[in-house]
Amino acid sequence: MKALVLCGGKGTRLRPLTYTLPKQLVPVANRPILHYVMDQIAGVGIEEVGVIIAPETGEYIKEALYLNPWGFHFTFILQEEPKGLAHAVKVAQGFLGDEPFLMYLGDNLIGETIVPFVEEFRAGDADAMILLKEVEDSRMFGVAEVDEGGRVRRLVEKPKEPPSNLALVGIYLFSAVIHDAISRIKPSWRGELEITDAIQQLLQEGRGVKSYVLKGWWLDTGKKDDLLAANQVVLDEWVKREVKGEVDAESRLSGRVSLAEGAQVIRSVVRGPAVVGQRTKIVDAFIGPYTSIGADCIIEGSAVEYTVILDGTRISGVGRLEDSVIGKGATVCVGAGNRGALRLMVGDDSEVIL
Ligand code: TTP
Repeated sequence: MKALVLCGGKGTRLRPLTYTLPKQLVPVANRPILHYVMDQIAGVGIEEVGVIIAPETGEYIKEALYLNPWGFHFTFILQEEPKGLAHAVKVAQGFLGDEPFLMYLGDNLIGETIVPFVEEFRAGDADAMILLKEVEDSRMFGVAEVDEGGRVRRLVEKPKEPPSNLALVGIYLFSAVIHDAISRIKPSWRGELEITDAIQQLLQEGRGVKSYVLKGWWLDTGKKDDLLAANQVVLDEWVKREVKGEVDAESRLSGRVSLAEGAQVIRSVVRGPAVVGQRTKIVDAFIGPYTSIGADCIIEGSAVEYTVILDGTRISGVGRLEDSVIGKGATVCVGAGNRGALRLMVGDDSEVIL
């Protein structure tokens, strides 16, 4: 079995972060989402991984996978334009050949192993298997109608009146017959070749489509609040106390704090769960729970909590910073003698709440 990981798309919902960073590389607990995806794929014993990339961000994706600790054989496949998930499969047909494959959206994060999902597919004779998650309001998702045995009856994209509360998580298994189904569908109203239409096509042809319901959490990190929630869950579940950096005598680390090599904590308190990246300096500061700070940052004279800070950022003299996402190389500081005036240089599509 091969894997196809989708790392194309535009990522409009996470702007401005996604102007300089593809959505799949947004860090959660200081690791790109894509690395968690690759961990899952390695966990089911797949070795051949095709990665769909876009012209604008493909090089960043390649760089992020360059060290390849999973030992995969990667094939990068260029999708010139984001014309839909089924279009991505079409572009990858040469790579996929006649083999069954696991398709994984590169920006999906789930808190549970996919091993039983993949094993059920390998043991059965279905032509497709979809991963589902119960959600409160399924109207903004692809939604499945399923019978008692888990067989899929129907799929609908963003229905006004959903037939169930089972939303499609972006992880799918297909046999090679999906290629024929894709060749028979037409672009949807939004001009995309939809994978839900291709699966619906399989159903109309009488093919077996099964489902598997995820019990653990699922976060499709579409927006700022989703990203903060994902960061919280991942820090809660996966971060261990690991202190490689330096902590001076006047500082205190409490709970599960991961302090990377070269990081320094000076006259500060860091309360876990929290991660601090390489060479980051924390001076006269309080870092509260559920905070991820990237590499090469300076945090001084500030209290930061429930926040994601990307690499190379400086936060200085800010009384209290909460529920925030700060992009790469940003500066947030209260200057001396600013007499209460704000001096801002805020990038496109940014949000500043004072
Ligand atoms: P989406 O979230 O559907 O699309 P998007 O990335 O354009 O995001 P936004 O709505 O914020 O603008 O994409 C899901 C995943 O699939 C994401 O990882 C990007 C990827 N993708 C492709 O690789 N090719 C495509 O043609 C599309 C539509 C998405």
